[in-house]
Formats: sequence, C-alpha cells, structure tokens
Amino acid sequence: MFIVFPDTDHVAQYVSTLFIQRISQQPDVILGLATGGTMEPIYAQWVKQALARNIDVSQVSTFNLDEYVGLPAQHPQSYAAYMEHHLLRHLAFDRSRIHIPDGLAHDLPAYCQAYSDTIRDHGGIAMQLLGVGSNGHIGFNEPGTPFDSQCHVVELSERTRIDNSRFFGPNEIVPASAITMGMRDIMDAHEIILVATGSSKAATIAKYYEHEVSPLVPFTILKQHPKAHIILDAAAAALVPSNVCQFYDTVPAAML
Ligand code: F6R
Repeated sequence: MFIVFPDTDHVAQYVSTLFIQRISQQPDVILGLATGGTMEPIYAQWVKQALARNIDVSQVSTFNLDEYVGLPAQHPQSYAAYMEHHLLRHLAFDRSRIHIPDGLAHDLPAYCQAYSDTIRDHGGIAMQLLGVGSNGHIGFNEPGTPFDSQCHVVELSERTRIDNSRFFGPNEIVPASAITMGMRDIMDAHEIILVATGSSKAATIAKYYEHEVSPLVPFTILKQHPKAHIILDAAAAALVPSNVCQFYDTVPAAML
C-alpha cells in the first residue's frame, strides 16, 4: 500500500510528524537521514514543529545516507552543507552525534567499512528516511548494486548526475562518485519511510508497483522489509492503481 496525500505540504507535515513523534517517544533515538529536493519541505516542517513543541533533540543520533566524494563539508553543494542549512543549524543537536560521510576521507574503503560498523555499534537505525532517484536508487545505490552491500564508494550514473545538476551552478561539475550507505545498511533499519513527490517521480513509483524485487530497480528491495512505508503526493502516485493507495486528505488528527 502506498500512503498518498494531496500535495507536498501534507506529505511534509505527515513525515515530519512521524519523526518528531519518534524523537518524543525515545529522545536518544538513532535516525537515518537523506538529502535532496524531496526532503527540503520535510526538514522545514520538522524544524517548525520541533520549535513549536519544544522538542529536545540533544540526544538524537543521526546517520546520513551519502556524500559526494571530493567535496569538503563547507562546499555549498555538499550534503553536509545541505544538512546544516535545512536542519542542523536550526535545532540544538549535539554535533558529536551527527554522522555524515566525509567526502574527503583518505582511505575510502576503510572509511566506508568504519561507517557501516559505527551504525551497527550504535545498535542500528530505528527510523530511516529515504528519497528515491528517478532510476530507483536509494542512497546512491545505483541500479545493479548488490543487495548485501555495505557502505561503499559508487560511480554515479549519468542519469543521477543529470538529475542532480539542478543543484549545481552552470559552470560546476557534478562529482563523479559518492560515498553511500549500502543496501544492507538501509535494510537493517528497523523502520523505513520512503518519500516521493511530484510528477517526475510517477514513472519511478510505477516501476515499484510493476517490478519484481530486483537490484535493477534498487528500491524494490523495500518490498522485503517488514516495516517500510512509501509516502507519496497525488502527482507521484498518478501512475499506480488506486486500489494499492491509501488516500488521506489531511494528516490524521490523532497524529497532531
Ligand atoms: C540523497 C539520497 C538520494 C535522493 C534521491 C532523490 O541523500 O540518498 O537517494 O533521495 O536522489 O533526490 P530528490 O529528492 O532530489 O529527487
């Protein structure tokens, strides 16, 4: 079942509420976080709600999915800068609990192994936020990535580099590779919230519905996860039959 809201505002309100509730239930929760255009309204709502409800985030630990290789944290297009801009600087996080892959790490294979190990050492991710690339990638696990992969360096596909060029200036080059949490790291999360919005994701969501589980469409692996939820706006749900959608006009009052 896909959970479908009329528009991105409702999606953002719903998803941010899920995360705020999770933090309220367990202040030292371990969260997996994503970046990208889909997440911008979600983090905006998250900050708004956390401030309005005086939510203490000081014990929350976070692990980001990915980072471009070669970009320092201060680079405006790095995912470290993205997280700073959209979430971290607004709330009183304990920075020692914030984990974002280091795009400048020297020994990348050792660094990646340590990133996966650190997630496990923390007891695993309780709630993982995911977007999905137009080619079905999650994190930067491009089509063909083995399902048992751990954190690793990936060569970005042409499709992903074109999709992400919208965040870079006209004379800037989208990095060719990235560090990403692996498929196994993601699937080890206790609960997964995948979000897709906008008509540009409709064909991707249709692939999830039509395809068997396959590394060629990475996010189909979520069909094997016991607690994975796919949250869409109406535009992203446009190409799947309505009998596999649960429609909400508004965020259920019991959640607010
Ligand atoms: C980003 C990430 C990616 C994005 C995906 C969708 O941390 O892991 O998988 O979620 O590329 O990006 P947007 O939301 O920009 O369409």
